[in-house]
Amino acid sequence: MADHPHTHGSHHGHSHGHSHDHGHSHAHGHGETQNREYFNQQASSYDSKHEKTLDKLVEEIRKRIDFIGVEWADEESSGDEEEKKEDNREKREVREVRLLDYACGTGLVSRALAPYTTQCVGIDLSENMVATYNARAANQGLTPEEMHAHVGNLCLPTDSPSYPTQTQLFSSSDFFSFDLAAICLGFHHFDDPPLAARRLVERLRPGSGVLMILDFLPHEKMDASHPASGTVIHHGFSKEQIQKIFEDAGAGEHFAFEELAVVFNKAAGTREEMKRKIFMARGTRRAE
Ligand SMILES: C[S@@+](CC[C@H](N)C(=O)[O-])C[C@H]1O[C@@H](n2cnc3c(N)ncnc32)[C@H](O)[C@@H]1O
Repeated sequence: MADHPHTHGSHHGHSHGHSHDHGHSHAHGHGETQNREYFNQQASSYDSKHEKTLDKLVEEIRKRIDFIGVEWADEESSGDEEEKKEDNREKREVREVRLLDYACGTGLVSRALAPYTTQCVGIDLSENMVATYNARAANQGLTPEEMHAHVGNLCLPTDSPSYPTQTQLFSSSDFFSFDLAAICLGFHHFDDPPLAARRLVERLRPGSGVLMILDFLPHEKMDASHPASGTVIHHGFSKEQIQKIFEDAGAGEHFAFEELAVVFNKAAGTREEMKRKIFMARGTRRAE
């Protein structure tokens, strides 16, 4: 099995004065700085280092097209509609389906769901991740209207000094009425996951928009000497925790939770066994 995305990297938090405070700096809002620095360093090698895991995740996401439960752009994707396949294809209308890929990194979720959506919008606080996302999209011949990422943070508390600027940046209609908002392997890095869920749900279409989260099931704490330890704030989530977060955020309708076949089980460069299981959760935003 491939390595865990957070097990690599030469950089660690000690160099910028947080060594006394691994995993606790979020209380003062420093989590953002640590995340940005760490993922800026990871961006250029992220895809090659984690290729196998990322490919497997793409496969696992695509297997669950029906589980995610969005009315996809490609009607053929809903497996039970055999008859539609036979229909004359000219009549087929492509539905507009917009994805918000939050903490998008290099664009794993966007790539997995591009065949089923008409627009993928990425947001990530690491500018290097965003640059890699956009370079990959351009290399695939996609226009910015089809797939594009922006640097930003939608999860700031209202009293953060950057909150007004960030809110302003993402205030246009281009950043609302999504059919799906997804966070893959980002939730455990956030200072306040319930706040992140609320902020994304606000941007979904009421009554049909889906919130989807992929992250780790509860696991042992990461060693404080680990390069990524300053960025990992939560050590996995239980089904009950996640369901409550979805419900409190207003996306508890048709909540579903499933374990994926992907397991990260090796810490790179060490003998340490690190078994981690990944879940996928989905819920629909309540109608207003
Ligand atoms: C492990 S990577 C996952 C990337 C991608 N979703 C994937 O599955 O490959 C975590 C990403 O979360 C981003 N991130 C961390 N905290 C964030 C925040 N508060 N807002 C936006 N992005 C954040 C990091 O920059 C990084 O790109």
